[in-house]
Amino acid sequence: MKKSLASDNYSGIHPAILEAIAGANHGHVSSYGHDEYTHSAELLFKQHFGDHVEVFFVFLGTAANVLSLASALRPYEAVLCTELAHINTDECGAPEHIGGFKLLTVPTTDGKLNIEKARRYLQNVGFEHNVQPKLVSISQTTELGTVYSVQEIKAIADFAHSNGLYLHVDGARLSNAAAALNLPFREFTTELGVDVISFGGTKNGMMLGEAIIFNNTELAKGFKYLRKQSMQLASKMRFISAQFVAYLTNNHCIATAAHANQMAAYLRDRLAAFPQVTITQPVDANAVFAIFPKAINQALLDESFFYFWDEEKNEARWMTSWDTTKEDIDRFVDVLADALL
Ligand SMILES: Cc1ncc(COP(=O)(O)O)c(C=O)c1O
Repeated sequence: MKKSLASDNYSGIHPAILEAIAGANHGHVSSYGHDEYTHSAELLFKQHFGDHVEVFFVFLGTAANVLSLASALRPYEAVLCTELAHINTDECGAPEHIGGFKLLTVPTTDGKLNIEKARRYLQNVGFEHNVQPKLVSISQTTELGTVYSVQEIKAIADFAHSNGLYLHVDGARLSNAAAALNLPFREFTTELGVDVISFGGTKNGMMLGEAIIFNNTELAKGFKYLRKQSMQLASKMRFISAQFVAYLTNNHCIATAAHANQMAAYLRDRLAAFPQVTITQPVDANAVFAIFPKAINQALLDESFFYFWDEEKNEARWMTSWDTTKEDIDRFVDVLADALL
């Protein structure tokens, strides 16, 4: 298959990560995370997020999200999130089915959670006939490729905590956000009081593996049992951990995410020459959303497969990855230019 702009998880494993997997592939080591690689990865997470955090590795992002929420919620408690949140749109009902909790969704036009719109769900707190909001979940970067500023996250954290709610961040693309904000992870997460984070690796060059980071360590109590019971305890944990060691060392994950972000900005800039193409969201990170004439769809899809975000509007989502090159973008834009003639 040709390289594509469909998603950042269409790309392969970064060579440095593959090397780390091969490097861990020697001899016998203890299983289920009782190994040196896991210990080293945990220490790196503490360096990036704070000494006190507790970290647990799982296989995939949906599990990281569902288990983060499950660590915080009783069966009658609910999650406030945007209508576009991955937990609401793309997890096949896993939060509802596996976690058993209700999602209370808030409309959004830029992917971010609007506090005033979320607040209306608080009016029936304490009324026994209504599900009780207990956690706010936001995605950083958002599903529309936008990035919350420090001030925006601080405001949401204050809103959550002043109303007795926890704050979860779906950080499937947290490295892209760190690169975009040019800030250490802790400055826009743990230091603002985010309680629990799903930290992604897969979309930014890992083979598989995500981390759940507890800033609020009360929520980590008993979590090891929840992870095992939820079938997310890897017996050969060292191969997830070794990836995270490489990922978090020498700013590897920031460099790869910054590259992906730059490629999206390059695509946006090149598209500015075409009045028939309208960019519909700020290109804060590694996604470009655009509307263009339907007549060129096939030519573009022949060059690079991608998904339509809104078929009615003919709005596409183009995502760049750690391995997207300027040449890939130039070829795509050349096809677009020819098709528009
Ligand atoms: C915002 C967001 N959260 C979480 C995920 C994790 O998904 P998966 O379960 O496919 O690893 C994704 C992947 O598309 C995502 O885009």
